[in-house]
Amino acid sequence: MKVCVIGGAGYIGSHAVYELIRDGHEVVVIDNLSTGLKEMVHENAKFYLGDITKKDELTNIFDKECEIKPFDVVMHFAAKLIVPESLDQPLEYYHNNVEGVRIMLEVMTEHDIKNVVFSSTAAVYGEPEKALCEETDKTNPVNPYGETKLASEKLIKWVCQKYDMNYCIFRYFNVAGADESLEIGLKKDNLTHLIPVTIQTALGLREKMIVFGEDYDTRDGSCIRDYIHVSDLAYAHVLGAKYLVENHKSLLVNLGSNEGYTVKEVINEVEKYMPVNYVIGDRRPGDPAKIVASNAKAKELLGWSPKKNLSDMIRTDMEFRKKNC
Ligand code: UFG
Repeated sequence: MKVCVIGGAGYIGSHAVYELIRDGHEVVVIDNLSTGLKEMVHENAKFYLGDITKKDELTNIFDKECEIKPFDVVMHFAAKLIVPESLDQPLEYYHNNVEGVRIMLEVMTEHDIKNVVFSSTAAVYGEPEKALCEETDKTNPVNPYGETKLASEKLIKWVCQKYDMNYCIFRYFNVAGADESLEIGLKKDNLTHLIPVTIQTALGLREKMIVFGEDYDTRDGSCIRDYIHVSDLAYAHVLGAKYLVENHKSLLVNLGSNEGYTVKEVINEVEKYMPVNYVIGDRRPGDPAKIVASNAKAKELLGWSPKKNLSDMIRTDMEFRKKNC
C-alpha cells in the first residue's frame, strides 16, 4: 500500500510509520512539526513539511504524490490532544482538529482517495456508564478535546457516505511505551501522562509526583485506566488500513485491553526498577474513576489484541527516557 501519514512526526504517528515500513508499505509523512519532531520520522519515509489547515499546502503535496501514484490510504494523527489545554483554547482546538480534518477530506475527494484511518479517543464517551466500554455506548464528551474528535468522526462518516469512501476510526484509550528499537518514543516538554510522569520521577527528573485522589470507588481508591503499548496501537493501524483496502467497508473500534490498572498499581510496577517519590493529592477535575475498553470488536474484525503488557510499556518508556533525556 502507499500510505499518507498526516502527523507522522508525532508520538503515535511516528510509531505507525515504523510499523507500516516494517510491514513493507510505502509511506509519505506530512507534518507541520508544531509538536512532532523530524528526527522521529523513519528514514525510509518521504517527509513533507505541511499544515493540513492550509488547503494549498496539502493540495500541492497530494498533486505531486498522486501524480506518481495515488495513495491507497490516508491516516490522520495531526490533532491537538491535551484536555486542559482544550478547555483553555477551544477555538484553536476546533480549528486544528475539525477544520484540519475537513480540509483533509476535501483534498482526498478532489484526488479520489477512498480510504481514511482516523485517530479518535475514549474521551468521546465522557463519563463511561459501564465497566467495559463498548463502541455502541453513548457518546457524551465532557471537554472540547473530546468534542472535536466526535465532531470529526461524524464529519468523516457523512463524507464517506456521500463520496463512496471507507473509514476506519480507532478510539484510543491510554497509550504508553516506546518502540523496542528505542529510536522513537514520547519526547516533549511538560509531560502530563501518568506513565512518563512516574518514570521521570523514578529517574530523578522530577522531585515528586502527585497521585490525583485515593478516594475513588476502586480497589485501592485511585483511578483505573486501560493502558496500551504504542507499538500495539500502531500495528492496529496497519491492520485497519489493510481491512479498508481489502474489504471496502468501514469500521469503528476501540483499541483497549479489556483490563485496567490503578494509578497505584502503575507506580508499584515502576518501583520494581526504582523508588518513586509520590504524595497523595486532590482529585484532578474531570477524571472519571474508571475507563476500560472492551476490545472484542477489534479482535473480531481485525484479529487484533495487545501483545505487550504494562511492564513492557514501563520498560520501553524508561529505556527511551534514559537514552534521550
Ligand atoms: N495521574 C496521576 N498523577 C499524574 C498524572 C496522572 O495521578 O501526575 C492519574 C490521573 O488522575 C488519571 C490517570 O493517572 O487517573 C491517568 O491519567 P493520564 O493523564 O495519564 O491520562 P487520562 O486518562 O487523563 O487521559 C487519557 C488520554 C486522553 C484521553 C483520555 C480519555 O491521554 O487523551 O484518556 O479518557 F482524552
